Amino acid sequence: MSEKVVMKQITKSFSVNGEKLEVLQAIDLEIKSGEFIVIVGHSGCGKSTLLKIIAGLETQDSGSCEMDGKAITKPGFDRGMIFQEHRLLPWLSIEKNVALSLEAYDKAERAIQVEKYLDLVKLSDFKQAYPAQLSGGMSQRAAIARAMAPNPDILLLDEPFGALDAMTKIELQDEVKALHQKEKSTMIMVTHDIEEAVYLADRIVVMAANPGRIRDIVTINLGKERDRGSIDFTIYRKKIYDYFFESKVKEPEYVI
Ligand SMILES: Nc1ncnc2c1ncn2[C@@H]1O[C@H](COP(=O)(O)OP(=O)(O)OP(=O)(O)O)[C@@H](O)[C@H]1O
Ligand SMILES: [Mg+2]
Repeated sequence: MSEKVVMKQITKSFSVNGEKLEVLQAIDLEIKSGEFIVIVGHSGCGKSTLLKIIAGLETQDSGSCEMDGKAITKPGFDRGMIFQEHRLLPWLSIEKNVALSLEAYDKAERAIQVEKYLDLVKLSDFKQAYPAQLSGGMSQRAAIARAMAPNPDILLLDEPFGALDAMTKIELQDEVKALHQKEKSTMIMVTHDIEEAVYLADRIVVMAANPGRIRDIVTINLGKERDRGSIDFTIYRKKIYDYFFESKVKEPEYVI
């Protein structure tokens, strides 16, 4: 696997009420092509800002962010982004919403891609429906189809399942995992859900706050098929949990 994204010494500040707020400090991160990276950290530590820099929606103050060896300067269809809320346009049908990301395709190719991705996210029967007629999980599926339809090299997912119920969330985690394995795209996801992180990630980037920085990067050596109830899974979950919360349970030493 070659490097897809290389971030070197990224810093970012915002001005809030006339005061400088340092949001990201000295971010060094290399992401390989096809990797599934999950970023976890407290609210406000700069996770969304980091994703937006990769998406080209924000610019770093210093340092560099490159994709395939070229500086990222603006958004592009080579990077798809999915947000916590689906951001579908309410006045367009689901198929037209998905087609929005396919401007660069001719009409026939566009129809093929829309069909393919609505099928992959199990929404073929709802292509004529409008966003208001879909459940939260279905809307998020449509957003995934829209982001993936132009075959982006990188999919950026900012708490995509944060607003969903636990059952739907688990279903969608499996769907995203299957899409990742099938499409071989690089995925970078932000979540607050530690179990979700351990279930999906090749590597988990643990961030610290004020200013946002990388505290550790944990490689999850659990193979592709993961059992949420297995001992190894539980050990990883506790390892990540322990970065954020003091453990109240005294346990035997464990080593991963
Ligand atoms: N456009 C902006 N202007 C000013 N401040 C901003 C802007 N965007 C983000 N911030 C500030 O930067 C900090 C980091 O924001 P960011 O959205 O990246 O955090 P986050 O880690 O994604 O948090 P959460 O988990 O709550 O989504 C916050 O303090 C936020 O108020
Ligand atoms: Mg955020």
